[in-house]
Formats: sequence, structure tokens, C-alpha cells
Amino acid sequence: MIFRQLFDKASCTYTYLIADLESHEALFIDPVEGNIDDYLALLKTLNLNLVYSFETHVHADHISASGLLRQATGASTCIGLHCGAETADYQLEGDETFTLGTRVIIKTLSTPGHTPGSMSFLCNDRVFTGDALFIGGCGRTDFQNGDAGDLYDSVTQKIFSLPGETLVYPAHDYKGNFVSCVFQEKTKNPRLAGKTREEFIEIMGNLNLPMPKLLDKAVPANLYCGIEEEEAQQMANDSEFNQPENERRGVQGSINHAKNRIKQVDLITAKNMIESNNVIILDVREQNEYDLGHIENSILLPRGRVKAEVESVLTGIGKDSSILIYCASGNRSALAGNVMQELGYSNIVSLIGGYIAWKRG
Ligand SMILES: [Fe+2]
Repeated sequence: MIFRQLFDKASCTYTYLIADLESHEALFIDPVEGNIDDYLALLKTLNLNLVYSFETHVHADHISASGLLRQATGASTCIGLHCGAETADYQLEGDETFTLGTRVIIKTLSTPGHTPGSMSFLCNDRVFTGDALFIGGCGRTDFQNGDAGDLYDSVTQKIFSLPGETLVYPAHDYKGNFVSCVFQEKTKNPRLAGKTREEFIEIMGNLNLPMPKLLDKAVPANLYCGIEEEEAQQMANDSEFNQPENERRGVQGSINHAKNRIKQVDLITAKNMIESNNVIILDVREQNEYDLGHIENSILLPRGRVKAEVESVLTGIGKDSSILIYCASGNRSALAGNVMQELGYSNIVSLIGGYIAWKRG
């Protein structure tokens, strides 16, 4: 089995890659949108075929990459039924079994409490607990319909009933921990070890934590597997997140970085380019967005598939050709344009404001 623990610094999220060596089938658990190019590169390096992208729950602190990974690789997205993410391919109820090849088996465990749809995933000697159980802590239960009593039941009855040596891999860690085990959490976790259900509920009711900064943006986006452009746009415009790009990764950092590295043009310039009849127009939104309206003669290539497919889609078009790239608002096109520049396309411009600006005229 191939196993990788990846870390998103901006949201302190752990993403996991699991793969079967024989069949080369792979899955991700809790991928983060801003890191999709790293994930695709890793899959390529390891010669893996992504089959599933699992979410432990609808996250409130980052946007998921599952939707983009589905677009890029054809992987199926999987999330708890009670998360309400209806566009996901598999709506998990718990006790399902998934396999990679014939030897890597993943069992789903319904572990509600942090959110009603929270799932954990058991794979061989390790359990991926999402926000149900952290190393020395647990996810909060004071929003997204969380319930401390349910969380106590999930952890003590489902996770703590696993063999003590089962490795515990959470969705987050804020203190530099990598892995724990069931026995350690059962005996040392300050919120749970030796605590009654009532004591746990009391602890969880008195945490007084601030709301996550991305709550209002990430949750709606993640209900659509993270592919809602408007949410990313709101984040990009939200001054709270305008930190220096080298201090954060994830969606915001990636978008700012991408915009700095590509020539951006306004609507008038773009229209002049199109009128000169000398430009390839590339639409990097999703098919459903394209179907609702697009710039005439534009070629559709969703952003998540750009790296893998642009050279075949633009067969016969020189890499020094003039290319105008657009999305809904100018974020995805900047990211996709960067990818194309890395592939050698040297004359790309991204439309500021994207199709929203185009429609406004
Ligand atoms: Fe969470």
C-alpha cells in the first residue's frame, strides 16, 4: 500500500493519499482545493489512477478539491449522506466497503457529532477520523448542527472500540502532531479520557471558540464538492484573507500567486483581441456553466483538466499563439493560465472579471 500524509498549511488540514501498489488505484481523503496541482503531479509521479475522493464531512475552514479532482481524473466523490452535498457521487451511510485493487479495503464508519454527516474511514491498521477525533482533542460541535452528545457516542462507541494499536489520523492538527493511536486517545485525550458523556457535553459547551474565518464561504462551496467559483471569488475579495501570499497556501494564496504571474486584460482589451480574429479563446469553467452561456467560439476545457488535456485539446495550435483564457470571475483562469505557462504556452492573457464581466458588457 502507498500512503502519504499531506498538509495544507493555511487550514492545518491533513489530506491523505492511499493507493494499491498492484492495481495502481488510489484515493484521497479530504483534499484541499488550492493544492490540486500538487495532487495531480503526485498521482503522475507515483503512476496512480485516482478512483475516489473521500470527504470526512462538509468542511468549514477550506474548500474541497474533490469536485476538481473528479473533473481532472474521473474519480468518484464520496461524502456522508447527512452532509447534504447532493452532487457527490456516493452518499455514505456507514458500513460501506470500498476497495482499491483487491487488497486495500476501506470501511466507512458513521461518526456524527462534529456535523451530522461526519464519517470516519478505516483502512487496514489506521482510521481517518476527520474532525470527530483529533490528537489530544476533537472537532467543535457548536455550529453546522453539531451535537456534543452524538460526538461522544461516535468516538467512544465506534472509534474507541477499534483495537488500541489502530493508528489515528485526524483531518487537522494545529500543534505539529502527525499520528496517534486509539489507545493513546482513549487514555490521554483530555476531553475524552475518563470523561462521562455529561462531562464531555459540559466541556464542549464551554469552549467559546471564535467562528472559523471561512465558515460562510467554505460550507456553501463544499456542498458542491468545492467547485463553486463565486465562493472563491468572495474569499479573494475578502480583506481578512489578504495576507502575504508566502504566509499562506490554499485557495487565496494560490489565486494571488497565479494572478501575479499572468498578464490580465480588461474587457475592452479582450474584445479588441477577439475582433482582430487572431486569438484562441479558452473557457475553463465547468460544462454546466458553459452550457448556460459562453463567449462565442470559445473552447471549453474545465480548469481541473487543463494540465492533463490542454495539449491534446489545442493540437495544432502553436504554444506561442495568442490565447485568451476566462472563467466566471478571473480566479480559475489565472490558475489555469499558470499551468499552461508552465507547459510552455507563452502568450496567454486572463480576462479580468471573467464571464461575469463579459455579460455585464
Ligand atoms: Fe470540520
